[in-house]
Amino acid sequence: MTTLNEDTSGRSADALRADDTTEAPTGNGGAIGGVANWVDERTGAAKGVRFLMKKVFPDHWSFMLGEIAMYSLIIVLITGTFLTFWFVPSMSESVYNGPYVPLRGITMSDAFKSTVDISLDVRGGLLIRQIHHWSALIFIVAIMLHMFRVFFTGAFRKPREINWIIGLVLSMLVLVEGFIGYSLPDDVLSGTGVRAAQGFMLSIPIVGSYIAYFLFGGGFPGTAIIPRFFTIHVLLLPAIIVGLFTAHIILVMVHKHTQYPGPGKTDKNVVGFPLMPVYTAKAGGFFFVVFGVTALIAGLVTIDPIWMYGPYEPTMITAGSQPDWFMGFADGALRLLPGFLEFTLLGHTWSFNVMLGAILLIPILWTLMGVYPFVESWVTGDKREHHVLDRPRNVPTRTGLGMAAIAFYAVLFGAAGNDIIAIKLHLSIDDITNTLRIMLVAAPVIVFWVTKRVCLSLQRKDRDLVLHGKETGRIVRTAEGRFFEAHEPLDEYERWRLVSFEAHRPIAAPAETDENGVRSKTASADRTRARLSQFFFNDRIEPVTPLELAAAHHDGQADEALAPLEAAALEDAHPGEFGGHLHGGAEEIEEHNAYAHQQGSDDDA
Ligand code: HEM
Repeated sequence: MTTLNEDTSGRSADALRADDTTEAPTGNGGAIGGVANWVDERTGAAKGVRFLMKKVFPDHWSFMLGEIAMYSLIIVLITGTFLTFWFVPSMSESVYNGPYVPLRGITMSDAFKSTVDISLDVRGGLLIRQIHHWSALIFIVAIMLHMFRVFFTGAFRKPREINWIIGLVLSMLVLVEGFIGYSLPDDVLSGTGVRAAQGFMLSIPIVGSYIAYFLFGGGFPGTAIIPRFFTIHVLLLPAIIVGLFTAHIILVMVHKHTQYPGPGKTDKNVVGFPLMPVYTAKAGGFFFVVFGVTALIAGLVTIDPIWMYGPYEPTMITAGSQPDWFMGFADGALRLLPGFLEFTLLGHTWSFNVMLGAILLIPILWTLMGVYPFVESWVTGDKREHHVLDRPRNVPTRTGLGMAAIAFYAVLFGAAGNDIIAIKLHLSIDDITNTLRIMLVAAPVIVFWVTKRVCLSLQRKDRDLVLHGKETGRIVRTAEGRFFEAHEPLDEYERWRLVSFEAHRPIAAPAETDENGVRSKTASADRTRARLSQFFFNDRIEPVTPLELAAAHHDGQADEALAPLEAAALEDAHPGEFGGHLHGGAEEIEEHNAYAHQQGSDDDA
């Protein structure tokens, strides 16, 4: 073992020290370089930073959705910290004597009073409160859109399944975080929400009343719930969310970013710009754009004006009260669930009409989303890594399922406004509710079918484009008086984008019994898998093969076959005037290498 005093090189310790230098290394990095060097000498961080700065990011607008979520999270954290300086998380009561006349003389909790003070008394308080609330809402919209992008492009496939699940947990926690934040001011609207939440807990069979009693520290509302919510809202959930978010981003770095299909893009490279300087500049600028837009909305559009609602009073309730938009779907589910789901059995009241919508809906939906990547990979039998994204049209069943889920969500969301719809349109609320119940079942099926057909049609259109080129709308007459439309060939980059995908084929179930008549243990699983595989891939459009492309050129279809002749004749007659071709462009490429394209990648993975 080596100790500190041991001379390992055969020289004395003093001789070793003779090599020590007391001069700082000189460089031309200036003050920043000096500081960076100082830090690196103490932490060895340069290697990691260099690695990070050279990281290549592909460019696509849809990748900004995750960034908007990320920046909104930062804005929420900064503004939330500001609010904690003035917010008093207490249900102790006092009489309001502040500047807002309509509330003077009213008894209210300190939580409510301090929120009114932040809004009307603290300089900049209302703006920060509004930015906090708006950025929380934008955060959740951005998360949802980001999730759609990830789903519809298949970015959740191996090796990103863990990140998909981390994202799902994040999105669920964010809903809870939002709901609790909304409850903190203890105004009449949020108090109504808390009351509803207590009711949801009570609907859990056997243990519900114990859970509610435990959380509220006794009966409703008690004096414990706001301080407890405060701790959860500013400490517990933010810590978990920031921790999970960090893991999420680290995994994006580890896996590298996915990229959209295109020439030169493969599962083994990342084509894009490095983090430094291009992405750092872009991302830094984009943060301020997000901040600016959020501040602008917050400055112009009032949100949650609690001084107008008044403090929470369990005896008061406003008509037409609605939760924040992100809880709308769960509220809608509650409104659609039929009353007969509440019944008495074994001496207990079982309130499934409440529990299904309020307690079970979110875990069920999130579990379905969580298992989807695994189901899809089981059905396709595809265990490979995927770094090139799918174009949604090229995976019609997945896209159809995603759209069906959105339709389901949209009906639930619409149902949260059944009372408002009834009032505004002078319709019966029962009729609206019954119609929405039917739509909840029918809409996803119809939307699935329509989306799938649209995807297949778009794929057919792509095939047509690849084989025959773009229609130009220019009609050309031949010497014999025949008419053809001029077709412009696709350039090879565009062609590559349209043909570089895989169409999975349905997997057939293996024989259920072996040669000795013994039934396979996995027979029923194999059958289910084969059925699901049929469901996924029976209807499919195969990408154009090089052979088909070459054949399209020689297939004798009038426009194709005559094209070179016509083009040459036209070019002779009107030099430079005719910009297109009368065919699909198959002749530009060699038959044996119909997809010839130039590869150019920046970074080999
Ligand atoms: C706190 C919420 C979230 C934040 C701040 C966040 C942020 C990000 C960012 C900045 C990226 C890289 C850029 C991009 O691909 O858009 C990313 C990638 C990713 N996110 Fe999220 N995300 C969140 C929630 C979610 C959710 C809810 C899901 C899915 C259920 C999800 C799944 C993924 C996946 C699979 C990737 C890798 C995608 C790829 O490489 O193409 N994230 N996230």
